[in-house]
Parts: sequence; structure tokens; C-alpha cells
Amino acid sequence: MTGSEAPEVAAIWAQAHGGVIGRGGTMPWHVPEDMAFFVEQTMGHPVIMGRRTWESIPSAYRPFAGRTNIVITRQAGFLAEGALVCPDLESALRAAAQSPGGDLVWLAGGGQVYAEGLRSGVVDRAVITRLDLEIDGDTHAPALDPSWATAWSSPEQGPGETAWHTSRTGVRYRFEERRRPA
Ligand SMILES: NC(=O)c1ccc[n+]([C@@H]2O[C@H](COP(=O)([O-])OP(=O)(O)OC[C@H]3O[C@@H](n4cnc5c(N)ncnc54)[C@H](OP(=O)(O)O)[C@@H]3O)[C@@H](O)[C@H]2O)c1
Repeated sequence: MTGSEAPEVAAIWAQAHGGVIGRGGTMPWHVPEDMAFFVEQTMGHPVIMGRRTWESIPSAYRPFAGRTNIVITRQAGFLAEGALVCPDLESALRAAAQSPGGDLVWLAGGGQVYAEGLRSGVVDRAVITRLDLEIDGDTHAPALDPSWATAWSSPEQGPGETAWHTSRTGVRYRFEERRRPA
């Protein structure tokens, strides 16, 4: 990143059926393989998150190691130990672009931040973990226009097939990446 080019912006989330991503300020499932996938995808790059998501991370795990953590909040003077604090998404993206690994910036939630990222057109791709769970939630993933093509999925899906990995906790899941049309 030289500072003159815009970074690539990717959003990453896990969703249950119906697009549920959270309930009561947390994620109502335990899929360690998805947590490992999040680390693998985001390591070395800045991660931007909303204040509520920041507060949902147990203090032992925040800030996410090896990544510049950027928290957005409208609260003046908000302190997030070990993270940068920005007053809006635009300034967070600028700070991220100046951070180590800032050629690729991750939006790490939650619902408000994904929605704003998609609405404002800054998101180039979405990396989604689909969980085979029926869960009631209060926070949802943004709907992606069908023109966002699937770049890859794991496991690969055959025609008319839905293939899954199975977590050691028993939850079925799969990963996919969707890309904004050029
Ligand atoms: N499944 C997943 O992959 C995943 C990932 C992340 C989070 N989650 C879940 O999502 C839920 C949290 O999501 P959420 O939608 O409630 O909250 P959020 O997006 O994490 O945070 C919302 C807060 O961020 C700040 N904010 C948002 N947009 C802003 C803007 N444009 N400018 C300045 N500040 C802004 C505001 O903070 P202030 O109120 O302080 O001003 C707002 O209240 C939790 O249940 C969490 O577990 C799920």
C-alpha cells in the first residue's frame, strides 16, 4: 500500500439460517473451526468493528493479536484498550489503510457495520461461514444482491448439492466467498 490506492475491503461473518449473526450481544454458537478461520483470514490486516462487537469480545481475546483493531463509536472519548477508536466508518477505513497490512481491510461486524459497509459500496467481497443452525437472533447479516457471484466455497458444492464440514462440536458449516460485480 503506497497510500495512493484504495485498500481492498472485505467483510467476514458467520450466519445461521435466516441470516442470524447475533443474539443478546453475542454469537449463540460455538464453532472453534470458524474462529480459527477468522484468525487465518484476517491475520496481519486491520480489522474494523462496531463498539458493540468490541464489547462482546472477552477481554482475554481483545484486541485481536497481530492485527490493528479499530473500533467505531459516536461516543466522544470512548476508550478501547489496545485499539484505535474512530468516529465513523470513513475515518476508520482511512486509519486502516495506514496500518500494517492496510492493503486489505476487514470489516468484522457487527450488524450495523456490515450494513453500512454494504450500503456505502466500499465492500469488495464477503467471506461468509454458513452454519446449519436454526436460531432466533436479534442481529442479521446484510442481504447480498444475487449479482454477487460466489468466488469459491468450501467444501465445493456440486450442482444442486449442499455440502458441509462438521465441527468437532457437531455443528455443520461451510465457507464461501461472494464478490461484488466489477
Ligand atoms: N456472526 C458474526 O460473524 C458476528 C460478527 C461480529 C459481531 N456479531 C454480533 O453482532 C452483534 C453486534 O452487532 P450490532 O449491529 O448490534 O452492533 P455493532 O455493529 O457491533 O456496533 C454498533 C455500534 O457501533 C457504532 N457505530 C455503528 N455505526 C457507526 C457509524 N457509522 N459511526 C460511528 N459509530 C458507529 C455505534 O457505537 P456507539 O453506540 O458507541 O456510538 C453503534 O452502537 C453481537 O451480537 C455480536 O456478537 C456477529
